[in-house]
Amino acid sequence: MTPVVTCWLADLGRKGAACKRRARVVVCVILVIAGSGAAQIFHPEIPRAWDDKEVARVEVPLAQKDRSPRYLTSEQYYALKVRPIYRSYPAYVKGREPAGYRESLKQKEPEIIFDPSKLRTTEDWIQAGKLVFDYGVFFRPAPAEAPSMDRLHAPVSPDGVVAPLLGGYRYVVRRKGEVELWGLNSCARCHTRLTPDGSLVAGAQGSIGFPQPAATLAALREFTPQQVRRSVDREWRAYGAPWIMGREAFEAEITNDEIIRRLAAAQSGVLARQGTSTSHPPHIPSLIGVEDIKYLDATGLGHHRSIGDLMRYAIINEGLDTMAHYGDFQPSTGIEDTSFNAEPGTRFSDEQLYALALYVYSLKPPPNPNPMDDRALRGRRIFQQQGCPVCHTPPLYTNNKLTPAMGFQVPEDLLKSESILNVVVGTDPTLALKTRRGTGFYKVPSLRGVWYRNAFGHGGQAETLEEWLDPARLKDYYVPKGFHLGPGAIKGHEFGLKLASGERESLIAFLKTL
Ligand code: HEC
Ligand code: HEC
Repeated sequence: MTPVVTCWLADLGRKGAACKRRARVVVCVILVIAGSGAAQIFHPEIPRAWDDKEVARVEVPLAQKDRSPRYLTSEQYYALKVRPIYRSYPAYVKGREPAGYRESLKQKEPEIIFDPSKLRTTEDWIQAGKLVFDYGVFFRPAPAEAPSMDRLHAPVSPDGVVAPLLGGYRYVVRRKGEVELWGLNSCARCHTRLTPDGSLVAGAQGSIGFPQPAATLAALREFTPQQVRRSVDREWRAYGAPWIMGREAFEAEITNDEIIRRLAAAQSGVLARQGTSTSHPPHIPSLIGVEDIKYLDATGLGHHRSIGDLMRYAIINEGLDTMAHYGDFQPSTGIEDTSFNAEPGTRFSDEQLYALALYVYSLKPPPNPNPMDDRALRGRRIFQQQGCPVCHTPPLYTNNKLTPAMGFQVPEDLLKSESILNVVVGTDPTLALKTRRGTGFYKVPSLRGVWYRNAFGHGGQAETLEEWLDPARLKDYYVPKGFHLGPGAIKGHEFGLKLASGERESLIAFLKTL
């Protein structure tokens, strides 16, 4: 550490008419610059991620409290094997793979690239966290054919390499002689945005959730009864909540045709994460700036009081939630279907999770092209006049509170223990009341970065801010431009819907500067 001496000229004495004389003095301070520079050695204090006491407090109880998930104990959790992170290799699209490329991968030795003993600086840890963010948690044998362009929703470089993130295509060698496609459940896959200019923004609202290609849907229509059975079983494991709908009723509703209908409705930025619902899926939140956000998920299920909580969030959401007990219901033991669970019997190391969280905290928004011009300044006044800051309070543009969903009676004890604004905004309550992530609440989302997002409202029914602020969306026969299975109002949150049209544009211009 280097002490730095800084001096400046200062006026001394009280200001005001009574005080005529001012003394000018030179003030000097010795500043000791603490170790934030990239070259400084960083000594991480890594919390124990799966600590029983912390795990017991990490989530808001479910609306039906006795169904709140019970997770593995720390003893069971730490008995799992750590999943090493191996070096991965680019995948090429069909027709662009250099001759002998796959063969050459078979000759590679497996190489573990996340090694905490080699990390020195904060930047080293952040870069190691990126490895965790990009890496998947389950694997499948590399297909014989390279993927063709029409199945990909990821950019491809001029030499034919698939962008690893959204496409999820990259090869990995975990055992010599075996080439696999790396896990499709990487954080990056769902939390990377493809911008209109073709660049990728890590941590921004994910662009995944594309309508399935017609060929995939057609193949699903040809399923044999056994395949149908398997896909309904999978749906039950991912979304079943027997205290809301029993298995029989679920099967009657989730027919193969219905699965296909819901897949066909898929939208960029909206994704039925396990524990939610394929008829009421949540939008994908942006992770940029999440360090300041106190509740995680649209329903505010996860507390975020510390870096340890983000580590726990990653553990839970990469498989442990599906293996939890919800009362007497355990969706999966983790063995039946690896596509919902991490590579069975494995876990992240606490070092990997800590690096991952540091990386997520380090993510920055792309430069905002929208100017704070006169129109936006007018919009800022409208934002204030309309009372938006009560909930979307600057500088985070959220008050970091939960609001009860329509029909939810907030339990007395939660009014004390949680940060709640007891005002119902009146949006569709299904996700909050009828799913495994249903706490009975919707959190107030931050409006930072709305200019590079779509999928507004917890279910992403509004495609744009214009639509979110359009009173026509309240009509029963309205057809949403965002996620929808059929016509119907985008209910609730009627703030800012009564503006004159010029005012609405100004308000939107302001929101786009955030
Ligand atoms: C299959 C897609 C998918 C994968 C993989 C995924 N996420 Fe998410 N993530 C989502 C969706 C969808 C939500 C919204 C869930 C909700 O609101 O109920 C979400 C929510 C979050 C949130 C809550 C943020 C907020 O402000 O509410 C965090 C944090 C997060 N994910 C981090 C991660 C990390 C870290 C990983 C990797 C370990 C990861 N996610 C992997 C889809 C994914
Ligand atoms: C009483 C609190 C409250 C007030 C006042 C309020 N909002 Fe909201 N806002 C919310 C909540 C809660 C949500 C999430 C609702 C949901 O998704 O179910 C939300 C969601 C939004 C969204 C969607 C964001 C996203 O990521 O999906 C936008 C945009 C928004 N509000 C803008 C505004 C504007 C502009 C105003 C003022 C005209 C305003 N809000 C007033 C609580 C409020």
